[in-house]
Amino acid sequence: MTTTTSPEPPASAHPNRRDILLLSTAAMGAAGLAAVAWPFIDQMNPDSGTIAQGAPIEFDIAPIADGQIVRIFWRGKPIFVRHRTTEEIAAAENTDVAALMDPEPDSARVKAGKAEWLVVFASCTHLGCIPLGHQGDWGGWFCPCHGSQYDTSGRVRKGPAPTNLPVPPYRFASDTKIVIGEA
Ligand code: FES
Repeated sequence: MTTTTSPEPPASAHPNRRDILLLSTAAMGAAGLAAVAWPFIDQMNPDSGTIAQGAPIEFDIAPIADGQIVRIFWRGKPIFVRHRTTEEIAAAENTDVAALMDPEPDSARVKAGKAEWLVVFASCTHLGCIPLGHQGDWGGWFCPCHGSQYDTSGRVRKGPAPTNLPVPPYRFASDTKIVIGEA
């Protein structure tokens, strides 16, 4: 087993548009520009009534390109849906689990046969800030509030965050659709 502790300097703490597509009712209402830049967002955005009720939401993952992360809301909580690259999957899998702060194999955090998709709550487990994608020494997420870092499986690799980004209940309704809120 190899580890992915090879340090590379943290990237800038500023997200870029490739990293995160913000999908929320508020974002759609406020940012017409975003709708132009990302025309598929409207199609993907869950109905606001569904969100408000906290019911399970079906989400179309087909438009999410390799390497992209989108952020959606379920029950008022932000969730990352990450389309992992081959390299990101390998980094997540080729990790010494026993050496992790919150030991958990990557296979326990993704659905069998769907390793390219990672779905995790988007709140840092320290004090709840939203981490920045594709940043930090492990290329997963970097929390700009106090410097916690997560790997490409959403596992905490550097504190003060104590635990991994939790995986919400979800299932695949098809190859291109997930339902968040149902296991
Ligand atoms: S809230 Fe993320 S490190 Fe403190």
